Amino acid sequence: MTKTSTENKIAVHNLIENRWSPRAFADTPVEQEQLQALFEAARWAPSAMNEQPWRFIYATKDDKEAYERLLSCLVEANQVWAKKAPVLFVSVAKRTYDFNGNANGHAWHDVGMATANLVLQATDLDLHVHLMGGFSAEKAREALDIPEGFEAVAMGAVGYVGDPEGLPEQLKARELAPRQRKPLHEIVFNGKWEQK
Ligand SMILES: Cc1cc2nc3c(=O)[nH]c(=O)nc-3n(C[C@H](O)[C@H](O)[C@H](O)COP(=O)(O)O)c2cc1C
Repeated sequence: MTKTSTENKIAVHNLIENRWSPRAFADTPVEQEQLQALFEAARWAPSAMNEQPWRFIYATKDDKEAYERLLSCLVEANQVWAKKAPVLFVSVAKRTYDFNGNANGHAWHDVGMATANLVLQATDLDLHVHLMGGFSAEKAREALDIPEGFEAVAMGAVGYVGDPEGLPEQLKARELAPRQRKPLHEIVFNGKWEQK
């Protein structure tokens, strides 16, 4: 399924245009090779001081116990639909620089960069990723043995798009709604804040 957007006046790359966050996932598993390609794409993201502060913990449905561990970190509202995705992951940020131990104020930014790479690579493989902030970082730390000095940033559900008919009514409506964005003039300023 391709999602429409409310407007499309300026052309952007197909990968950007075709990316969206589904809630309906197909049962089809994701091949290990493809999964590794997602993390390889993440690996090549830029980062402050080339620190590469990102870490990823993933689980596939092949390993039921590990999958349930990740699933249990999600809030109920996300579990409802994410439990169909064949792969779940948690992104994690290292909070300090390796070279001097100082706080890395860009760690979350750079985990976001790596995740964006991962998501676009997924799109190129006809996969979709639905990122989630609705999870417990504390629970993730405990359940997944995330050490001190690192913190869970977001979770993601990965898979092939499924049939929206299988979703609860409210989620189905959101699944089929066009994607919306703020207009460019609200988010981009030339030279100074709110220059017209
Ligand atoms: C950091 C982050 C946290 C998000 N948290 C959730 C979430 O907890 N549950 C959810 O259903 N979607 C979540 N989303 C998905 C957004 O709602 C979605 O990206 C946004 O509505 C735009 O839709 P699109 O990705 O289909 O273009 C999150 C996305 C990001 C990047």
